[in-house]
Amino acid sequence: MSMKISVVAGSHRGESESARVASYVETVLRGLGVESTYLLDLAGNPLPLWDGGVWSGDAKWGRLWGPIEAELDDSDGLVVVSPEWSGMVPAGLKNFFLLCGSRVLAHKPALIVSVSAGLGGSYPVAELRMSSYKNTRVCYVPDHVIVRNVGGMLKGEKPASEEDASLRARIDYSCRVLLEYARAMGAIRASGRIDLKTYPYGM
Ligand SMILES: Cc1cc2nc3c(=O)[nH]c(=O)nc-3n(C[C@H](O)[C@H](O)[C@H](O)COP(=O)(O)O)c2cc1C
Repeated sequence: MSMKISVVAGSHRGESESARVASYVETVLRGLGVESTYLLDLAGNPLPLWDGGVWSGDAKWGRLWGPIEAELDDSDGLVVVSPEWSGMVPAGLKNFFLLCGSRVLAHKPALIVSVSAGLGGSYPVAELRMSSYKNTRVCYVPDHVIVRNVGGMLKGEKPASEEDASLRARIDYSCRVLLEYARAMGAIRASGRIDLKTYPYGM
């Protein structure tokens, strides 16, 4: 089965650590045989905040969001890389989920990878698991990755420390698990059971 995975780098900062981690994950996915990947970097806020034109078919949104939506639509799974900012995920990442609506991510598996310069990183995991899936119907896989002390991690070919080596092994494992979910969940979407017309929004 040919596989496509999208990776979202959720930091607004230029040259963010989240973007670096997202690019590392993309390389891992390619190494595991994923034929196609799509990396969306939210650096510099390429997407304005949601407005009513999204629902009324404003041409601006067709231009800005249309190409991204097509890439996501075509994907079998998602990796969400989020920094911890003030104990939260960045606003631009929440905006991304608003724009996704209820179709493009529905019943697709997603791996959460959170990023902290220090020992943080658990709040984005909790926030994403609590509040980004209701309407998008994205399905977070049970395992997630927290990249702590990101400045010393995932740089260069060889691990710089035991922690770096262990993190790399965990990312590899988590990506492999994500791909198994992606293979399996295609059957759910193809089953005919999903009815987003009657139930566009979760409760
Ligand atoms: C506005 C802002 C708030 C931050 N708040 C936190 C925080 O609450 N916890 C934490 O561990 N790191 C925090 N950081 C530091 C990030 O962990 C650090 O910038 C890291 O590189 C990940 O963010 P990045 O992907 O934007 O580079 C914050 C950084 C910024 C820019």
